[in-house]
Amino acid sequence: MIKEGFGTDGLGNAAELVTLSNKNGTQVKISTLGATVASFLCKDKNGIMRDIVLGYDSAEAYLEHNGYYFGATVGRNANRIKGAKITIGGVEYQLEANSDGNNLHSGGNGVSHRLWEIDDMDEEKNSVSMKFFSADLEQGFPGNMKIKVTFALSEENELAISYEAVSDKDTIANFTNHSYFNLAGHDGGYIGGQKLKIYAKHFTALAPVGSIPTGEVRAVKGTPLDFGEFKEIGREIDSDYDQLKYVRGYDQNFLLENDGKFTIMAEAICEETGIHLYAYTDCPGFQLYTANFVDEHKGKDGAVYKERHGFCLESQYVPDACHNPQFQNPLLFAGEVYKSRTVYKLGLD
Ligand code: GLA
Repeated sequence: MIKEGFGTDGLGNAAELVTLSNKNGTQVKISTLGATVASFLCKDKNGIMRDIVLGYDSAEAYLEHNGYYFGATVGRNANRIKGAKITIGGVEYQLEANSDGNNLHSGGNGVSHRLWEIDDMDEEKNSVSMKFFSADLEQGFPGNMKIKVTFALSEENELAISYEAVSDKDTIANFTNHSYFNLAGHDGGYIGGQKLKIYAKHFTALAPVGSIPTGEVRAVKGTPLDFGEFKEIGREIDSDYDQLKYVRGYDQNFLLENDGKFTIMAEAICEETGIHLYAYTDCPGFQLYTANFVDEHKGKDGAVYKERHGFCLESQYVPDACHNPQFQNPLLFAGEVYKSRTVYKLGLD
């Protein structure tokens, strides 16, 4: 395990970058700024090393482009909360209204953009744990919350991300990782030719504005959101379909119906590199996001990124579930331990 400097958080505090590697030459680099997956390197079918996640070369660059959440740990609540307000135990809490009057990814300057502390580097488990203390009412959420995220890389090329959180008041806990994958390499450009398979039969339909689920559960069958068999991400992305038009492509939440059991959520393949991604989670669903709102700018190693240069598979609760009783609520009771796990595994075809 290697630990090196990664710039600063803008306030003079040093960010660090920890590299996990295995015998296959696979490497994962995690930054303490936002507990972020900064790189995920593996050999492709021709033995060429590919870094399959978008990112930047320093903590400063992550802060400069913080609205994209490249690779970041997102919480305390991933995705959106309607009206940027939640009521817990009869008390209303005001959150930051940072997206069309709604709260997105808990607001700016949260866990995704702050320095985490390295808690543990375990050579045997090939893992690094990072912790963050989020004080009562930080970003508006009740309760002092202790958060821990562990990243482990196995010899089977699995990157396991495990979350743990505990609060001293009833609150919300809904964490995700916001990696943007490009299986042709982070500098591989448009991801439309890469194929995706999704293990979900339903998604939550969005309102025309604000990307908030209306409460309607819609079958994927017969819609461009049907990835029941492998299909190019770009094949139907520009279809004349309301849900795609509202958000300029894929940015919807799929329901896994897994009863909290650890299950496969999606697979993706890139024929050119042979890299095959398998994604698993115990969350009730996940957001597929095709980087629709990424403007042209420079990323790692001078690569130029723009819209649709990556796809995210963000495991989480249904967005705005705290206002929709038919969906599982991300409520965490005081003293209870929130636990969740997501695995991104790489294979070669
Ligand atoms: C999520 C959202 C998108 C976008 C990104 C961050 O995936 O669903 O709409 O806001 O995060 O840029």
